[in-house]
Amino acid sequence: MTSTLAEPAAVRTARPRRFVMCRPDHFTVSYEINPWMDRTRAVDAELALAQWETLKATHERLGHVVDVVPGVAGLPDMVYAANGALVTAGGTVGVRFAHPERAGEAEAYARWLEAAGFGPVHRPVEVNEGEGDLLLVGEHLLAGFGFRTTRAAHAEIARVLDRDVVSLRLVDPRFYHLDTALTVLDDDPAHPDVAWFPGAFDAASREVLEDLFPGALRTDEATAAVLGMNAVSDGRHVVLSPAAAQYAELLRGRGYEPVPVDLSELLKGGGGAKCCTLLARS
Ligand code: ARG
Repeated sequence: MTSTLAEPAAVRTARPRRFVMCRPDHFTVSYEINPWMDRTRAVDAELALAQWETLKATHERLGHVVDVVPGVAGLPDMVYAANGALVTAGGTVGVRFAHPERAGEAEAYARWLEAAGFGPVHRPVEVNEGEGDLLLVGEHLLAGFGFRTTRAAHAEIARVLDRDVVSLRLVDPRFYHLDTALTVLDDDPAHPDVAWFPGAFDAASREVLEDLFPGALRTDEATAAVLGMNAVSDGRHVVLSPAAAQYAELLRGRGYEPVPVDLSELLKGGGGAKCCTLLARS
């Protein structure tokens, strides 16, 4: 007789993290570089700040350390700290933005990271938008391309960090960064785990993900469309949008603990919890 019972949920372990965030003192939507941004929709600056403070307090309550980079006037997207760098045990790679509106953030993050002891920071030649497109999952460095980070940047990063990079092509403009299409749920090399939205990737990349993570959770359009994939996991707790209720249920079924945090104002710039959180050390 074949059992129809699901496998028992694994026991998940949280690992303490060091995060870097940027206070949204200068956040607004004054230009449009992704389909979420609409200059005609007002941003409530006070609410944005309160939501961001809640995200920071949530990370801290879960036992993580959060360092804060001061924002820079005129760089409203600097709040999306995930785009500030890729920090790995083998070195820190700085960023180079696809859009001139964000260019100034690169050096601000690189200098801050060096002063904070995460340097030296490699100043890239090719366009790469940090952890927005570059996600470490155990041994694998997953790298998105198609909208922002380029394939040439993948090659540059592979060279600089002396490691393999798994290139994944993003095809839906709403999911312009890899972290809008895929959540790293567990980065422990012993049991790496992700969740991903297939519609964001081309066929070849879907095959790559299926091979690397057989049995991984695949989410639907409704989850991705509220930026549900843009979540921060410590291996047990998954900080995500409260709008992604179905995703939260699926995560619970796999032994994770969903922790909803509303970032509706920051969503107006096209970012969620992960965009606002640079993982500096796991
Ligand atoms: N407005 C920003 C941009 O379009 C949002 C960045 C979101 N960051 C992320 N890691 N997905 O560049």
